[in-house]
Amino acid sequence: MILYKTDEQVEKMRKSALLVSQTLTEVAGILRPGISTLSIDQLVGEYIRDHQAIPSFLNYNGYPFNSCISVNDVVVHGFPNKRELKEGDIISVDIGVIMDGWHGDHAYTFAIGDPGERVMQLIRVTKESLYKGIEKAIAGNRVGDIGFAIQEHTEKKHGYGVVRELVGHGLGKDLHEDPQVPNYGKRGSGAKLKEGMVLAIEPMINLGKKEVYTEDDGWTVRTKDGKPSVHFEHDVCVRKNKADILSDYRPIEAAETANPYLFTGTVSVLQ
Ligand code: MF3
Ligand code: CO
Repeated sequence: MILYKTDEQVEKMRKSALLVSQTLTEVAGILRPGISTLSIDQLVGEYIRDHQAIPSFLNYNGYPFNSCISVNDVVVHGFPNKRELKEGDIISVDIGVIMDGWHGDHAYTFAIGDPGERVMQLIRVTKESLYKGIEKAIAGNRVGDIGFAIQEHTEKKHGYGVVRELVGHGLGKDLHEDPQVPNYGKRGSGAKLKEGMVLAIEPMINLGKKEVYTEDDGWTVRTKDGKPSVHFEHDVCVRKNKADILSDYRPIEAAETANPYLFTGTVSVLQ
C-alpha cells in the first residue's frame, strides 16, 4: 500500500533527510587514506544521536552498524571494519535516521585519491543518472519511467551493469514502503506517481557486469566480476512539475571539494 504524505509530514521528512545530508557532510570532511570505515561509522552514530535522532539502520533486520560503508567492489550494505582506506578506493556511505518518527535515508560515493578516469566516469554517470531518474518523479508519470531513465543513461549509453536485485523504495514512517523503485524498467509501466509520494531513488551501478552476490555475513553485496560499483541515493517527494529533493548534496559536495584527499566528479547544479 502506498502512503501519501501531507505537506506537514513532508517537512518533517525533509528535516530527517537533511540530517543525513549533514552527517554525510561531516563524513566528507574526515575522509583520507589511513582511516578505518569503523571510525567513520562511530562518527556517524555519535553525530546522529547528538542531533536528537536515531541511526535507523542499526538493528534493522539485525543489521549490526550505524551505517553501510561499501568499498570498491562492494555494491551496498558493506560492514564498517578496521581496515584502513587507501588511495584509489571508492566508498559509498549510506546513512539512515529516524527523527520525530520519520525516516531519512540517503547515500553518496566518494573517491579517496585518484581511482582512475574510468572509475571517476562511473561515479559521474551514476550521479547524473540519479538526477535523470528524479526528473521523471513527477505526478502522472509511472515508477517505470524513473528506472527507464536511469537504465538508459547507465546501461544503454555507457555499457555499465545495472544491479537488478536491489531497488529504491517508498520512505516514510517505515524505512521501506511501497512502491519498489527499480533502477531499470519500461517507460509507462508500474504504479502511477502522485503528489505526496516520497521515494528513495538509489541507482547501484557496476563498472562491469550487473551480477552480484551476497557474502556469508548475510549483508555485504559484491559484484561477481570484482569490478567497482557506485551508489548514490536521494529522498524526493513527487510533485506536479518538478520533484522536491528533500536531501541535499550541495553541502556534501562543498566538503568534498574542500577536502584535498578526495577526487571530485562534476559538481551538481541541479538543485
Ligand atoms: N539505503 C539502504 C536501503 O534502502 C540501506 C538499508 S541498510 C539496512 O535499503 F541495514 F538498514 F538494511
Ligand atoms: Co534506501
